[in-house]
Amino acid sequence: MTQPPKYPVLDLQPQIQTHWAEFQSAFQRVLQSGQFILGPEEHAFESECATYLGAPHAIGLNSGTDALFIALRALNIGPGDEVITTPFTFFATAEAISHVGATPVFVDIDEGTFNLNPSLMEPAITTRTRAIIPVHLFGRPVNMDPISSLAEHYGIKVIEDCAQCFGAPWGDKKTGSLGEFGCFSFFPTKNLSAFGDGGMIVTHDDALASRARMLRAHGSRRKYFNEEAGYNSRLDELQAAMLRVKLPHLDGWNQARRVCAERYNQLLTGIPQLITPDISEGHVFHQYTIRLRGGRRDLVQAGLAEAGIASMIYYPVPVHRLKLYEESHRHTSCPVAEQLATEVLSLPIYPELPLESQVFIASTLRQICRETLT
Ligand SMILES: Cc1ncc(COP(=O)(O)O)c(C=O)c1O
Repeated sequence: MTQPPKYPVLDLQPQIQTHWAEFQSAFQRVLQSGQFILGPEEHAFESECATYLGAPHAIGLNSGTDALFIALRALNIGPGDEVITTPFTFFATAEAISHVGATPVFVDIDEGTFNLNPSLMEPAITTRTRAIIPVHLFGRPVNMDPISSLAEHYGIKVIEDCAQCFGAPWGDKKTGSLGEFGCFSFFPTKNLSAFGDGGMIVTHDDALASRARMLRAHGSRRKYFNEEAGYNSRLDELQAAMLRVKLPHLDGWNQARRVCAERYNQLLTGIPQLITPDISEGHVFHQYTIRLRGGRRDLVQAGLAEAGIASMIYYPVPVHRLKLYEESHRHTSCPVAEQLATEVLSLPIYPELPLESQVFIASTLRQICRETLT
């Protein structure tokens, strides 16, 4: 068996150990209640999230993928419809669009932000366009102003993919509260994470909320009175109870991630061919992702691995180039996403990442770059 890396990309243990007693008592509370699905913990967590995110409705689900899927279904988006999104995201964003039978239309990204390039969106709008799904990638808020203006002008819905940005502000609001739906994931690696799968959708619209609640419960508003084919997608009581322990700490953790990112940026200045991310307003650094130019990214990653430093490539293949879309999207061209897929490398980041680890990671990276990139 291979040894785990000395410097993992994410270490959840500090968080688990610090709040051990709170997790234990939350766990006991659920066991004692005897309610495991749609009980008091889930209701309380939904209302705490609604308050935190500034939207009246927050609905707990099985996963972030379900959140996207149910949002699209609630908006009656399906065959014949087009949905604009980014090719530089986790597959689930496009997968949800394909699952409802709609066509994803991939618009290239901006190389500075890794997010949808607002100037390329309008030309992609057709009479079939029903929605835009911006993804706040790596925790960096997408510039929502041009998206909101386009949506209003063309009557298009906005579904924010917030899987990577829980807690990220956009002006005086929170990401996820800006469009028709905000879709969140509580996958264990996320900034606000469960001990298993979990997700949520958030909306301001009473009718959409009611429809989403109906869809998550087998298409029924009243038990055994099913109205349409829905799903079984509920956030369970144990996950909700654990997430309730974590939510009050999220802002502190997100701030600690920003501090780590600032520190990396200082430690990594002046390395030729290495581009660090800027510390833009509201960025909650779900990932700290650098670019390595010059075609040596994989060698650098191997060098880091040899020194016990884990790193990840998010994402090695832009979504429009995945096998599923290879044929249908052969005319899609997203040169920036395609280039970035060959250059990006995400380094270890989590709120408790020790200073000494960061210093070691950065100095090792600097040395590898000196040896490999020149
Ligand atoms: C951008 C993005 N969208 C959607 C998802 C799907 O979330 P989940 O894994 O909870 O289904 C993820 C999860 O990795 C993601 O990163």
